[in-house]
Amino acid sequence: MNKPIGVFDSGIGGISILKDLLIELPCEKFIYLADSKNAPYGPLPEKKIIELAEKNIDFLIKKECKIIVIACNTITAAAIKNLRSKYSLPIIGLEPAIKPACLKTKTGAVGVLATQGTFEGEHFKNTSKKYSNYVKLHLQIAKELVDFAEKGDFDSDNVKKIISHYLNNFKNRNIDYIVLGCTHYPFFIKQIKECVGENIQIIDSSEAVTRRTKDILMTYKILNISEFENKLIFYTTGNTEILKKLANNYLNIAPNNYIVEKMN
Ligand code: DGL
Repeated sequence: MNKPIGVFDSGIGGISILKDLLIELPCEKFIYLADSKNAPYGPLPEKKIIELAEKNIDFLIKKECKIIVIACNTITAAAIKNLRSKYSLPIIGLEPAIKPACLKTKTGAVGVLATQGTFEGEHFKNTSKKYSNYVKLHLQIAKELVDFAEKGDFDSDNVKKIISHYLNNFKNRNIDYIVLGCTHYPFFIKQIKECVGENIQIIDSSEAVTRRTKDILMTYKILNISEFENKLIFYTTGNTEILKKLANNYLNIAPNNYIVEKMN
């Protein structure tokens, strides 16, 4: 089916998910919505996150999206139950990759970086409880990384300082896996690796979400097999220049292959 896949996040973070989706689903059209004006969602009350998420989904439905990918751990944690009961189209969410990290760790110690909202979510609490007999999870809110990413600052001295500050809490704890439980954090992977060294594995949720999306498209028989090039439109309530930079340098898409539109 030729209709687009709608992907949204509180801001630009979900582009780290979109990267994988574009590679694995090369025949699909995508609409990406970044609600950067209202980011970060992490510290907001659940009710407000649900309200903003509904506004985003209503917009994507108006653009005729056939399926919605919530490329945000915080929104999934706060709102997915409500959203699935309100809308009839398939909605895919994501959660921190705790399960693979807990299954793979050899030291029995895993570090998790995420937002306050994600850690407070029912789903995270249940998953971490499930593994807590076997694995020690070390949790760290990394709020400021969302703010830095939204400003387009991925590599300044201040960014490095704050990353080193957050990761300090994982030192001397024998951690061998770090889970990036917020979609804004993969933009900082180089800096995180520089800080923790090569022996610690870093994982995020992009692979799992992409697999799930493909699966749902096939199950509902709405996979697009008739086109051979991704078509991509970005909408943002914030800064269009940051999106253009990410499209060019992070997604490696030629400027004539995407459009960026400002919205209110
Ligand atoms: N990118 C979002 C996530 O995966 C959160 C950022 C925010 O706090 O808005 O959780």
